[in-house]
Amino acid sequence: MTRRRIAILISGRGSNMTSLIEAARAPDFPGEIALVLSNRPGVAGLARAQEAGIATLAIDHKVFSRREGFEEELDHALRDHAIDIICLAGFMRVLTPWFVERWTGRMINIHPSLLPLFRGVHTHQRALAEGVLVHGCTVHFVVPELDAGPIIAQAAVPVVPGDTEETLAARVLAQEHIIYPQALRMICDGHARLEGDRTVFAKGWNAGGALRSPA
Ligand code: GAR
Repeated sequence: MTRRRIAILISGRGSNMTSLIEAARAPDFPGEIALVLSNRPGVAGLARAQEAGIATLAIDHKVFSRREGFEEELDHALRDHAIDIICLAGFMRVLTPWFVERWTGRMINIHPSLLPLFRGVHTHQRALAEGVLVHGCTVHFVVPELDAGPIIAQAAVPVVPGDTEETLAARVLAQEHIIYPQALRMICDGHARLEGDRTVFAKGWNAGGALRSPA
């Protein structure tokens, strides 16, 4: 089995990054985390990756006058490390169509909502304001339009009385840590791939039952 070389792009604490690093330690995981890259120097996620023995790099977007300059540097670094697949994990920088198209079908993202609901930021606050009873997270391929790419995996959680942004975020984050490694595994071993504007799955699964909230 050739293990795909994965780069994780972060901007902060890196809890999803950590879940991917831990999953990739399994001997049968079809990929290895070859690089963790942050657009913000000094974030906690970089230190966590170093502790885990992963190569790290910070490319500070603020030193570039143009967005393209930052992305050219990013692209060079990824190619220097012979990266096959990019995982955006709390990477809070919008990427231009130029960069996204260079990595089409090979770049995935985790988003803290059940897309296509609540694209963009403040997803938990907006879910609470709308009064939805089911919320969640999504792993999707990255396309030029923000948070609009074909879906690879989703997890739903209930919204319960008394929830705050913090309690809801924590419930969703626990699911992010489960579905992101699962989705990455499917991309690495070819069980899920991008075909045109759809995700194609190599095998089906048991679709019995339903999710209800309140249960
Ligand atoms: C996660 O909840 C992730 O879904 C979200 O940022 C958090 C990063 O946490 N991503 C986005 O909002 C992307 N638009 P982490 O650094 O602990 O993984």
